[in-house]
Amino acid sequence: MTSLLRRRTKPESADAPVISMVDVGMTYPNGKVALADVNVAIPAGAFVFLVGPSGAGKSTFIRLLIREQLPTHGNVRVAGRDLLRMRRGQVPGLRRRIGIVFQDFRLLPSKTVWENVAFALEVTGVPGIQIRRRVPQLLNLVGLHEHAHHLPTQLSGGEQQRVAIARALVHDPAILIADEPTGNLDPVTSWEIIQLLIQINQLGTTVLMATHNQEIVNAMRRRVLALEGGHLVRDEGTASYEREY
Ligand SMILES: Nc1ncnc2c1ncn2[C@@H]1O[C@H](COP(=O)(O)OP(=O)(O)O)[C@@H](O)[C@H]1O
Ligand SMILES: [Mg+2]
Repeated sequence: MTSLLRRRTKPESADAPVISMVDVGMTYPNGKVALADVNVAIPAGAFVFLVGPSGAGKSTFIRLLIREQLPTHGNVRVAGRDLLRMRRGQVPGLRRRIGIVFQDFRLLPSKTVWENVAFALEVTGVPGIQIRRRVPQLLNLVGLHEHAHHLPTQLSGGEQQRVAIARALVHDPAILIADEPTGNLDPVTSWEIIQLLIQINQLGTTVLMATHNQEIVNAMRRRVLALEGGHLVRDEGTASYEREY
């Protein structure tokens, strides 16, 4: 597995956080203030939870990181790039440095497990010989090699999320972002997905996970960023998640 995800013993540029927001605010066109005065810096290699009640701004925070949206004000830097100064043509390069998974998996229903992962490489022009080498490595990492030729409908929810995680890792991203990845899963399966995310983090990938799951956050003792009404109300090293959401 050593060649699969490159171990990153040093941040991509020395001392610079892999994610940073400075005085970030985001107001939607309808006037809704989704984020306000957010300042945060996440070092390379971290595992960070993003928590808060529904509507707190977690998904908006994530949309800013992948430049799906620009902030109304403030500065966002990801993987060494200033997202406000970035030209449109540079966005695909940014997105290859970030893997993302969602609560609803978003697999292509008519493609097999193998094809779902391979397709993410094909669309960026990776040669077939590399795809045939890389896909089985990724399916092994997520424990799905035996399901390579199954369709998403033939898999459990946890297995579908593993496919989505394998797909998110095709380009060996610096950062893996997960927006409520266990939201559709039972508690046992949720823990299995968390263990996989930890394994990926230990291989050197920075992991940011938005979640409602208080039990997981409390048990993990990792850094917790808490949003409420668009404000970052807590940023603690190994905080427990005291509020009932
Ligand atoms: N496209 C949009 N247009 C207007 N308001 C939005 C849009 N997307 C989200 N919001 C609002 O912004 C706030 C934050 O939403 P979101 O980032 O999705 O929160 P969370 O992921 O924590 O549930 C909510 O009040 C939500 O209704
Ligand atoms: Mg959300």
